[in-house]
Amino acid sequence: MGKQSQYVSKQPDENGIIHWSDEENQIWKDLVERQLECIPGKACDEYMKGLELLDLPKDRLPQMHEVNDVLERETGWQMAAVPALIPFDEFFRLLANKQFPVATFIRTQEEFDYLQEPDIFHEIFGHCPLLTNPAFAHFTHQYGKLGYAATPKERVYLARLYWFTVEFGLLKTEEGIRIYGGGILSSPAETEYAVNSDTPERKPLKALDALRTPYRIDIIQPIYYTIESVDELFQISDMDIMALVHEAMELGLFEPKFPPKDAA
Ligand SMILES: [Fe+2]
Repeated sequence: MGKQSQYVSKQPDENGIIHWSDEENQIWKDLVERQLECIPGKACDEYMKGLELLDLPKDRLPQMHEVNDVLERETGWQMAAVPALIPFDEFFRLLANKQFPVATFIRTQEEFDYLQEPDIFHEIFGHCPLLTNPAFAHFTHQYGKLGYAATPKERVYLARLYWFTVEFGLLKTEEGIRIYGGGILSSPAETEYAVNSDTPERKPLKALDALRTPYRIDIIQPIYYTIESVDELFQISDMDIMALVHEAMELGLFEPKFPPKDAA
């Protein structure tokens, strides 16, 4: 956010339809096919159920109204078409209104495996299935309201809680590690790594710890926080998160578990 992007979002026409090219539809198809092969036994049940409810098209990009009909019915959420990069203020304002910002562009073939800007594949395939889940939807809504009222400095702390839940959260279930974070679920390499690799640390989530944990957006994560069920997000929503933000500010950040960006 605030940086330049090589991408430009596509504008919906007067009926809310986005006209995707054949090439863009092909990229969606390839991304969906590849990810559907990766996620069985790794994505959490709530995600798989959400994916079933959304019933996303596999051979073309979905239109917003197709996704919105399901989200509206299940949890009252909507997608909001936004430019490739939006200010924090707008991001939080949308979430506070149960509108999930979706930049309406799709990555190019050159960036098929990895891109830093969240594209429509990441937003729809990564996040929208969980937005059909009441606990996840409630948490995201509460988070938006807190963030909208927060100062810029408080928002930097809040962003870490979002990162370690909505983007990179894991569940520790009786069947093993399962993923609910959309940042992982839209990346085949990280889907495999987050569940099966011995390299990353996996620790039970404490909101205060997450608020104090630095992260980098351009590497595979060295640490994940786990919860036992998606319903735990209801309990986190009920906490006085801003009091924890202030505590985190006083205590300061943990040592990063990654090299500084320049040395990487
Ligand atoms: Fe995301």
